Amino acid sequence: MKVQVLGISGSPIPESNTDRAVKQILEHTGLATEFVKLSELQFSPCRACLGCVRTNECVIDDDARELAHRFRDVPAFVLGAFTPYSSLDARTKAFMERMYCLRHRAGGNQGKAGVSVITTACPPGVENLPPAAETAASQIAFWMMEEGMENLGSMVVLGNVPCIRCGYGDTCPVSGIKMIHGPDATVESVGVKTFEQDEALGQYARELGEKLRAAVLRDP
Ligand SMILES: Cc1cc2nc3c(=O)[nH]c(=O)nc-3n(C[C@H](O)[C@H](O)[C@H](O)COP(=O)(O)O)c2cc1C
Repeated sequence: MKVQVLGISGSPIPESNTDRAVKQILEHTGLATEFVKLSELQFSPCRACLGCVRTNECVIDDDARELAHRFRDVPAFVLGAFTPYSSLDARTKAFMERMYCLRHRAGGNQGKAGVSVITTACPPGVENLPPAAETAASQIAFWMMEEGMENLGSMVVLGNVPCIRCGYGDTCPVSGIKMIHGPDATVESVGVKTFEQDEALGQYARELGEKLRAAVLRDP
């Protein structure tokens, strides 16, 4: 069956919150979907060589060239990212850049319907830390805007700072747990967050999936 919605995750963590949220949105579309984990592919960012202008085919012979074929052929997508250093992760950014090859003359990205998932360890409103989720969501939203895509929404998932599972979260002098949650916070008091714990996110995943479905069926 022809894939109608492509789910892409920039998170390298196996079965991460990002992956599971993307997959749940895909499931709620009720359409033919495919999930791609960018960390399982080998590819580099755009070289800005303009070798793709005439052919809409990237000259870099790596996995993103084939991924661009798959992206070209779907009317809708879910793009999931996480927020190292309070910004969009590098794989997701490189993916967005590499889809540039579809743009020239053909406008191959125009009209696609998309939603984003941003997983961040920093809850909203923490003083003295950058707004990681807003920054990453804007980066994807601006890409969609510049490519003439239809942005149907963005989900923010509260995930986990790596210090929760590194083994030194309570004693490390630069522990992210204390940086985000304060000097008295511990691995135990913060705990491991899962996408499934938050019922509202489950509802929102359904809503986003249904919006994607409506967009695809309206404009297959
Ligand atoms: C190198 C690195 C830097 C990170 N920096 C931040 C950060 O600045 N702000 C933030 O909210 N999360 C940060 N994180 C945490 C990730 O956003 C987190 O791993 C992501 O939310 C995935 O969570 P999950 O494991 O629950 O899926 C960082 C993670 C890594 C690996």
